Amino acid sequence: MRENRAIFALCGKGGVGKTSVSAAIVKILSGLGSKKVLAIDADPAVGLASALGIVPRRTIDDIRNDLIRDVRDGTAMDKQELVSRIDYDVFDAIEEKGNLGFLAIGRPETEGCYCRVNSFLKEIIETTAGHFDYVVIDGEAGIEQVNRRVMDAVDHLLLVSDASAKGLNVVNEIYKTAARTVKFRKAALVLNRIRSQEEAKAAIERTTLEVGGWIPEDDTIREFDIQGRSILELPDCPSLRAVASILEQVAGEPS
Ligand SMILES: Nc1ncnc2c1ncn2[C@@H]1O[C@H](COP(=O)(O)OP(=O)(O)OP(=O)(O)O)[C@@H](O)[C@H]1O
Ligand SMILES: [Mg+2]
Repeated sequence: MRENRAIFALCGKGGVGKTSVSAAIVKILSGLGSKKVLAIDADPAVGLASALGIVPRRTIDDIRNDLIRDVRDGTAMDKQELVSRIDYDVFDAIEEKGNLGFLAIGRPETEGCYCRVNSFLKEIIETTAGHFDYVVIDGEAGIEQVNRRVMDAVDHLLLVSDASAKGLNVVNEIYKTAARTVKFRKAALVLNRIRSQEEAKAAIERTTLEVGGWIPEDDTIREFDIQGRSILELPDCPSLRAVASILEQVAGEPS
């Protein structure tokens, strides 16, 4: 396990910018050069993959399905065999780009059965993450799915919202559920697509969450999305600078 490792998970209402902000965080942290970063796409729609210009060959869901099929077909596997196969498969599923690794979770597991496979998968994702300095998880709406499917605990839960009352309500609910049911070290609100200082101030006044900072509405991000360009190529722009200062505010990173 690396020391001073930090795991970030981003959650929030649909469409508020979780994937764009995750990708910007990945760009900043992997740009530090000496640090290894693992980006985990926990959204079945694999938005983070496209935001980073990565095409995943195999997802955790594919690994799970292949395993389940083999177990069903009667390919007998004892625990040790099962664990080393999952270990190999997860390692193989990581797409690498220099000091950046990328892993897609794929669709959620079918409920109920195959708990053994699911819990080994999670354990191995956690062990794999231990080989990286930073882990950035682009979550689905809530943190429960991240905890259930990816890892038990995160360091920084980043609650992403736009200035809308709906967006703020959703992160508030996520925070309340998370505080009761799951493990995270710190949580911070990240406001995105903010059009003015006044808008940021008004949104901050409407929440009791700790505020990590705000990111302006930025045409550079929109343009990159429209053109399907990787956020890793984002030039210096207001949103990227804002994300860097939020990282510093919430985690003292990058130092
Ligand atoms: N700061 C910003 N300035 C301008 N546009 C932005 C900004 N952040 C995100 N966007 C745009 O908003 C849209 C939604 O962003 P994104 O896909 O990152 O949201 P999401 O929360 O991941 O959505 P989903 O819930 O569907 O996964 C995209 O078109 C993206 O380009
Ligand atoms: Mg997304």
